Amino acid sequence: MTEENLVLVDKQDGVAVVRLNRPDVLNALNMPLRRRVAEVFESFVEESGLRAVVLTGNDRAFAAGADIADMSKIGAIDMYLRHNERIWGAIAACPYPVIAAVNGYALGGGMELAMHADIIVAGRSAKFGQPEVKVGIMPGAGGTQRLTRAVGKFKAMKLCLTGEIISAEEAHAMGLVSDLVDDDKVLEHAMSVAKRIAALPPIAVQQVKEVILQGQDASLGAALALERKALQILFATTDKNEGMSAFLEKRSPSYIGR
Ligand code: COA
Repeated sequence: MTEENLVLVDKQDGVAVVRLNRPDVLNALNMPLRRRVAEVFESFVEESGLRAVVLTGNDRAFAAGADIADMSKIGAIDMYLRHNERIWGAIAACPYPVIAAVNGYALGGGMELAMHADIIVAGRSAKFGQPEVKVGIMPGAGGTQRLTRAVGKFKAMKLCLTGEIISAEEAHAMGLVSDLVDDDKVLEHAMSVAKRIAALPPIAVQQVKEVILQGQDASLGAALALERKALQILFATTDKNEGMSAFLEKRSPSYIGR
């Protein structure tokens, strides 16, 4: 398989669907696949007309983690020199809302990848877990940190310390999964959420994302100030005038992203 084909991208109505495509190994994340995902996300930043991203895998796996065959051959310095943080950073920096559409396994780096999304839609048979400890390592792309922020210390500890694999229902109950749907409805549901977001004023949408992500690591006072400033800036947008006028004139708004 060529490196290009490791990730398939399709765009429709302002939504990019990014599909991981290493099905033979349950989308195990080797370096070419990770680099390709990062390149795809980097290419989105300057793209006009894009409003949301759906990140998905296939029926058996969103991604079953970092590629163990690949990692078994390398040492600490190789691992350091890979600078995986730059690759993950490209996804974290995506200004548009990212919706993970998860069927099958989202394990280890796969679950960490899903946690880079802003909304997680999962099929009822999906499985989540941070099993790294079982092969002598630990999460290295947010599994101990994004997970703790998402579900709290005690659930995160149990997942990372035991490496247990949990059902989508459990993941939903603990707040890791936003929407739980039938397996064959995952992509359709993720697309409908993405399209609803894509129809909204883009600057307001991006500000919501930025404030929630930046604010969760700041003090409450700083985060509330960030929120107020973002709200105030939105009063300078044409789309704010359009949205409010359309409401008052009882018509559909037409947003331009300015
Ligand atoms: N890295 C490399 N290859 C992987 C992989 C990974 N993380 N996860 C699955 N694969 C490969 C398997 O080696 C197998 O390849 P093969 O057909 O050449 O033998 C193929 O994907 C299918 O996986 P298999 O284990 O046969 O499927 P299964 O349905 O029996 O089990 C899992 C599915 C997900 C439970 C099992 O593959 C697994 O435990 N994977 C590792 C998960 C993990 O520990 N991730 C964190 C890594 S740090």
